[in-house]
Amino acid sequence: MHALIAVLAGDGIGAEVTAEAVRALGAVGKRFGHDFRFESALLGGAAIDATGEALPQATLALCRRADAVLMGAVGGPKWSDPNAEVRPEQGLLQLRKALGLFANLRPVAPHPAVLGASPIKAELLRGVDIMVVRELTGGIYFGAKHRTATEASDLCSYTAAEIERVVRLAARLARGRRKKLTSIDKANVMETSRLWRLVVERVMSAEYPDVSYEHMLVDAAAMHLIRKPRDFDVIVTENMFGDILTDEASMLAGSLGMLPSASLGESARGGLYEPIHGSAPDIAGRGIANPYATILSAALLLRHSLSLEAEARAVETAVSKAVDCGALPADIAAAGSAAISTRAAGDAVLAAL
Ligand code: IPM
Ligand code: MG
Repeated sequence: MHALIAVLAGDGIGAEVTAEAVRALGAVGKRFGHDFRFESALLGGAAIDATGEALPQATLALCRRADAVLMGAVGGPKWSDPNAEVRPEQGLLQLRKALGLFANLRPVAPHPAVLGASPIKAELLRGVDIMVVRELTGGIYFGAKHRTATEASDLCSYTAAEIERVVRLAARLARGRRKKLTSIDKANVMETSRLWRLVVERVMSAEYPDVSYEHMLVDAAAMHLIRKPRDFDVIVTENMFGDILTDEASMLAGSLGMLPSASLGESARGGLYEPIHGSAPDIAGRGIANPYATILSAALLLRHSLSLEAEARAVETAVSKAVDCGALPADIAAAGSAAISTRAAGDAVLAAL
């Protein structure tokens, strides 16, 4: 297969972690006889510095042309002045919106060898296998914003159609797994959540009678994720709740550095794949960031945008083997034991491939 993959390293550790994911894709392409071409473009703070815009036209054009997009991370203290005209994060949000990527899949399945890296007791973590589906192009992230010196507002709004499409996608995923969907909202307070609940009920009873579903309030869900994480199969939730709950859920997997994501639209082609972690400016440029979340995002890219399931599994198995062999970067290495570099972690994956 021929495929064009756009690579947007972004800021901070983005360049270091995407480099390892590109190496893994190159290796798997070679092994399975595919021709993957990579083209890079600027996004976020790096793009602001070079062009004044967080999402330059050339970057968007490349992403539209590409079969899939691999992204590192955006943001950093250099661009985080509250009065800044343009922010790195806007580039990412515009890109998600422009590509119509309304569903963000964030799988959470702790690797047995790193249970000790989690602050949560290992016995609660064994067997956890959650797929969080976060709505990605609506809600408070994209509503009207307004600020004066003394007052500010962010509008949260959803249409029934926006809720329907993400619920359908989550329900289809649940159908292929343990057939349980948990929809998370704040229906005791928010109108958007009450609409969300009604749409979930309508879609699930009419179209997915074979998938069981429940509603859960977001505050209770935040607690339940730590208390009984094995209870969850597929979670579907709105944009901001999904953002917050997945950083929390990353602790089940030991570290933010282990969680990949796939952002999908109506068509599988052109999806965006990125680790859920940020640009980690505190460790950027030191070659110690954990590249596994980005390499695992590359596996999701193979699976969802290129329909290369065997290749996706090969990458996931390679990461799993690397971790089993003790190739652990600082964020998941046991206290007092030696941590390996970003490059060495990438090497361990290549060796396993
Ligand atoms: C994420 C990030 C982004 C988000 C930021 C960088 C805008 O936190 O992908 O989870 O809030 O969506
Ligand atoms: Mg986030």
